[in-house]
Amino acid sequence: MKIRKAVIPVAGLGTRFLPASKAIPKEMLTIVDRPTIQYIVEEVVASGIDQVILITSEGKSAIENHFDYNFHLDRALTEKKKTRLAEEMRHISNLIDVVSVRQKKPLGLGHAIWMARNVVGNEPFLVLLGDDLVLSEKPCCKQMIDLFNEVQESIVAVQQVPMEQTYQYGIVEGKNIKERVIKIDRMVEKPAPGTTMSDMAIIGRYILQPDIFDILEKTTPGHGGEIQLTDALLALSNKRGMYAYEFDGTRFDAGDKIGYLKAIIAFALRHPDICEDFSDYLKEMAGQL
Ligand code: UTP
Repeated sequence: MKIRKAVIPVAGLGTRFLPASKAIPKEMLTIVDRPTIQYIVEEVVASGIDQVILITSEGKSAIENHFDYNFHLDRALTEKKKTRLAEEMRHISNLIDVVSVRQKKPLGLGHAIWMARNVVGNEPFLVLLGDDLVLSEKPCCKQMIDLFNEVQESIVAVQQVPMEQTYQYGIVEGKNIKERVIKIDRMVEKPAPGTTMSDMAIIGRYILQPDIFDILEKTTPGHGGEIQLTDALLALSNKRGMYAYEFDGTRFDAGDKIGYLKAIIAFALRHPDICEDFSDYLKEMAGQL
């Protein structure tokens, strides 16, 4: 089956970014000249997806507005003869079909994904976390879709992390069946030191079979009283096969202060308007350290 839909949960509280995220969704914080969420939607578009399903909450309407058509702005920019800017704004609203579903309470990532069940229906779908950025030549989602077209089973994107940091992640264990691809045997959420030999950590990109919805419905709240996606993934991997894919690219957790700053530097160094000046500035700064 073809992957046509991408679910992007953005209903979290964003406590790691307070007070910046008090009145502005953290997904709307700027990386150079566009909000984090736009890079994520652009990755989805570049991967050939037809529809984005945003899982939103109170206070996140700026995200919906960002992908909507703004008639007044369009008219004002056109009157001021700022044609290129007006076209760029129309381009954002024409990027992709966006549907949004409200998660009334932040009951966890698993619950947020379950909220998408009626819009997704009975087909495999992508999930991208609204604050996880990946910089790569070939879009990370496209890499995963290519693998899905071969294996037709659920896939989690993983990256190697230092062994002493594994306790911060969901960790997969299994056998390498070919370059970058692991058939999963076991998954552990935030393992205590010494309890896993694997350093393969799950990041915010998934392709899931729709069986996940029934599993999530029966999943009881876990760590932090939230419905955890990892608990449901474990059940799904036991029911059907599941693969981990070591994607080609660099991932940034833009929901975290240091990850956000690293993302700004990496994306600025690739931005055609500013890369040279910014690179000179960084060299100058490095000389002063
Ligand atoms: P995070 O773990 O980053 O949580 O969620 P958070 O609330 O956004 O941020 P912190 O940790 O308090 O700073 C991972 C993803 O799951 C979504 C978030 O929006 C983010 O994209 N999420 C989380 C929901 O949509 N609903 C939830 O109930 C929880």
